[in-house]
Amino acid sequence: MNKTISRRLLVSTRNDHKVGEIREILGADFEVLDLSTISGVGEVEETGVTFEENATLKALAVSGHFDGWVIADDSGLEVDALDGAPGVWSARFSGVGATDASNRALLLEKLEGLRGKERSARFRCVIVLARAGRKLAAFSGSVEGVIINQEKGSGGFGYDPLFVPEGHCETFAQLGSEVKNALSHRARALSGLLAWSGWND
Ligand code: IMP
Repeated sequence: MNKTISRRLLVSTRNDHKVGEIREILGADFEVLDLSTISGVGEVEETGVTFEENATLKALAVSGHFDGWVIADDSGLEVDALDGAPGVWSARFSGVGATDASNRALLLEKLEGLRGKERSARFRCVIVLARAGRKLAAFSGSVEGVIINQEKGSGGFGYDPLFVPEGHCETFAQLGSEVKNALSHRARALSGLLAWSGWND
């Protein structure tokens, strides 16, 4: 007999990589949908200055259009030598028309000459849960690591080919999704969502 999927969750994003990771992390108890499944939602401007503000904007923009649970993920990379940049501007680090590749190239340029611990960084993620146009909760997660001086690996997305998580010798892009999804900032934020006490209220 098929196991019944218990919760349908819409992720407020058009980033296939994020949706894929969220789907893999949450597992078979959740049916994870993305914005391609509903109409009427335009681009949400990320005008916040914190991950939680931007995740809230994205969750609430969609929650009014969808009858059910909605989550939004806002995430990024904080590099200590750059005073926490690119942070909430991670996707737009290299300016208009930024791509993952141009953002990584700029990051490498800015860290040139720095070695070892001078290249410390962390990924952060905040997941906001909403329903019926109301924010219900926010969950955060982070993972410490360092930025290496050349790209390695072909998995993942964004800054993954440059980020080696603490306790490992390879980048997220080399380690593969099973390892990344066990220890990532996103996995840690989603563990808060899974443990949330309000699901059955
Ligand atoms: P957002 O869509 O505004 O949350 O931007 C997220 C950006 O942060 C992405 O475009 C990536 O540049 C970066 N980012 C967030 N999470 C990850 C990750 O798991 N791996 C690599 N880069 C990430």
